[in-house]
Amino acid sequence: MKTFDTKKLLSELTLEEKAGLCSGADFWHTKAVERLGLPQVMVSDGPHGLRKQSTRSDHIGLGESVEAVCFPAASALACSFDRDLLNILGSALGDECQAEELATLLGPGVNIKRSPLCGRNFEYFSEDPYLTGELAASYVNGVQSKNIGTSVKHYAANNQETRRMSISVEVDERTLREIYLAAFETIVKKSQPWTIMCSYNCIGGIYSCENDWLLNKVLRDEWGFQGLVVTDWGAMNDRVKALKAGLDLEMPSSKGITDKEIVNAVNEGRLSMETLDQAVLRILELVRKYYEGKIDGASYDKEEHHDLARIMAEESAVLLKNEAILPLNPEMKVAFIGEFAEAPRYQGGGSSHINSFKLSNALEAAKDYKVCYAKGFDSQKEEHDDALLKEAIECAKEAQVAVIFAGLPDAYESEGYDRTHLDLPSNQNHLIEEIVKVQPNTVVVLHNGSPILMPWADKVKAILEVYLGGQAVGEATVNLLYGHANPSGKLAETFPLRLQDNPSYLNFP
Ligand code: BGC
Repeated sequence: MKTFDTKKLLSELTLEEKAGLCSGADFWHTKAVERLGLPQVMVSDGPHGLRKQSTRSDHIGLGESVEAVCFPAASALACSFDRDLLNILGSALGDECQAEELATLLGPGVNIKRSPLCGRNFEYFSEDPYLTGELAASYVNGVQSKNIGTSVKHYAANNQETRRMSISVEVDERTLREIYLAAFETIVKKSQPWTIMCSYNCIGGIYSCENDWLLNKVLRDEWGFQGLVVTDWGAMNDRVKALKAGLDLEMPSSKGITDKEIVNAVNEGRLSMETLDQAVLRILELVRKYYEGKIDGASYDKEEHHDLARIMAEESAVLLKNEAILPLNPEMKVAFIGEFAEAPRYQGGGSSHINSFKLSNALEAAKDYKVCYAKGFDSQKEEHDDALLKEAIECAKEAQVAVIFAGLPDAYESEGYDRTHLDLPSNQNHLIEEIVKVQPNTVVVLHNGSPILMPWADKVKAILEVYLGGQAVGEATVNLLYGHANPSGKLAETFPLRLQDNPSYLNFP
């Protein structure tokens, strides 16, 4: 075990070294101070698996990352309403971080789902602050039980992707505290996360990262937060103002620009050494905690974690409707229809995108049953394809039951932008409408990160919502369809019948 006397280290650092420590060395590492034997630490996204980048780095999920395990996304996991499950997930991720030598996992994402259109809702738990807080606190406790930090994000009121770096959220204090801050408060009080990630947006005209009330007063003085506050990647605006407001670490690197600003501010008497020291000490503490609990040579069993991902997907699935058709009789001839039976949509786009070491699909997982398959639609297109439709109709007619694997294509939901409507692509709605005409026993399995409209809901016999179920979604879905697992999840968010029914309709985004 490596340990550090952080107070002694602080007293030995020069002003320039202190200023330097307040921003990253590069995209994912803090800075080292070799002269004093202080190493750097690495952090990585999160939240439902590791996106450790060792070569080209980016914060929108475009570059390659190390192969890892993709667990179900938060919108799915929330439906389990199961604190223990989230704790198990956290511990598993903590083990993976130990093996990959990551000091802190950038998650969980606990923003409240203000509108079903937010492109990043799949990364968030619920529209309910109580459920979000309880589940996320369990996750944080799980990760941190392995001596790995978490970064609870995005503090605060980051509830849309549209202009997330510049908008000002106008919200009264009671609403802010009771809806948008409440989960953060629960997590701080129940699990003392090592770090909190500050959001890009302003609240009431003040950037979250420069908001003394939000960081120093509410988070630290009122709730008793002990850890450090880190910017979202590139969220820094005024470095000196941010330090005074309680923002400790800027990520990623500022290429030395803000280091100089800090040095000048101290030299000119605009920033006290005491304020700078406080931030530096919190950063040193993160390094200390990680190295004190670091397990050299740690490893984890990828297959075991894949199986855990399957159990989590099973525990999270919601049976939205069932008119005595599920579970399927294993002797029946079943038509699996829809591209997602073969190539499931199982995770969202952006910084949470994981390079899964393997992926199961329902078609392969059902190879021991009497199943025929038709692709039905092309997920890259909106318009329907007559040849695919014809083949699907034939397949459905020959079977006793049709299971349609539908959902939102990748391009519909991602970090960086919001949806503009709640519809499935029209080719999928058309496919379902055509299949129910020839096959009265039709089941729809849904792969989506957030609510959709189901104009055909009354015409199908069952609807199984598996959300973005992670890399083991194929096995999980087959187990759920054939009754080897019980779909006992409950929705953690509202599925409006019309977008207009959502309270944020008139002012989102
Ligand atoms: C996201 C964060 C993420 C960070 C690092 C940002 O774009 O908003 O959630 O942790 O990038 O990838």
